[in-house]
Amino acid sequence: MSADPIPPTIEWRDGVVRLIDQRRLPGDLVFLDCRTVDEVCDAIASLAVRGAPALGAAGAMGVALARRTGEPLEAAAARLRSTRPTAVNLAWGVDRALAADDPEAEALRIAADDVERNRRMGKHGASLLPEGVRPLTHCNAGALACVGWGTALGVVRAAHEAGLKPDVWVGETRPVLQGARLTAWELSRLGIPHRLIADGAAASLMAAGEVDCVLVGADRIAANGDVANKVGTYGLAVLARHHGVPFYVVAPRSTFDAEVPDGASIPIERRGADEVLVIGGHRVAPDRTDAENRAFDVTPAELVTAYVTEDGVERR
Ligand code: MRU
Repeated sequence: MSADPIPPTIEWRDGVVRLIDQRRLPGDLVFLDCRTVDEVCDAIASLAVRGAPALGAAGAMGVALARRTGEPLEAAAARLRSTRPTAVNLAWGVDRALAADDPEAEALRIAADDVERNRRMGKHGASLLPEGVRPLTHCNAGALACVGWGTALGVVRAAHEAGLKPDVWVGETRPVLQGARLTAWELSRLGIPHRLIADGAAASLMAAGEVDCVLVGADRIAANGDVANKVGTYGLAVLARHHGVPFYVVAPRSTFDAEVPDGASIPIERRGADEVLVIGGHRVAPDRTDAENRAFDVTPAELVTAYVTEDGVERR
């Protein structure tokens, strides 16, 4: 049993991939056991597991399951890769397990490495923050988006442990509310002060001088430094630049994609209209209204103050 208030997001348990079912948070902390590649694919597509580094581990464990169950590996890998297109970590995890002699051992290595790299990122990132910092976060880039600890929220956790007393603005992050449901859940469990804001409130908080920095994760960083992350990130970056607020992107090396030259070349996932039209099981728009649901946007590199990776801080 881990003493961590947040259990591992994803674990390999002797041929079973055990996930926290993130669709059920914050109401219920329940686990989902996947025994086949199809079950892992469904878990990824339905957001039971989500967040770039967690998807890397899920992809690798999916390949390990295929080896166990005797499924053809290449076909399984292709199905896993195609579940979500934007986070490069998914294909990275799948490909690493596929190239390994022992996909299971490789998946376990990826999972253990993830937590260790996140802790390093946390320390590097915390070194940028003053005491009493009031960071604004978007989406969930915490332990739930990884195997453990978190990227952008891992920086907050490291700052908290270092006694810097962070007080976090949590953007609710429509349409799927990863900020309200997941980031707030993590911060509550960790005992870190935080306040939830409607996404549209970020501008006025910045104008009032109440946001000291923006801390976000990333789903893919192109060769020129452009950053794909949860839709709404780009708007926050523009606001941050306008108000002179530092905008930090916290991501492991596995999120950097040297094959993609710039943000325009990053595939942006389109998800179902219902995620926008329906909240908590209730339709919030008229029956004949349709919706557009681009899950991610691209922040141009010029709006990024610094990238925080496991290797340190890279200022632009
Ligand atoms: O659609 P999601 O919930 O998978 O999107 C996740 C994000 O955009 C996160 O901010 C990103 O993966 C960085 S997580 C460490």
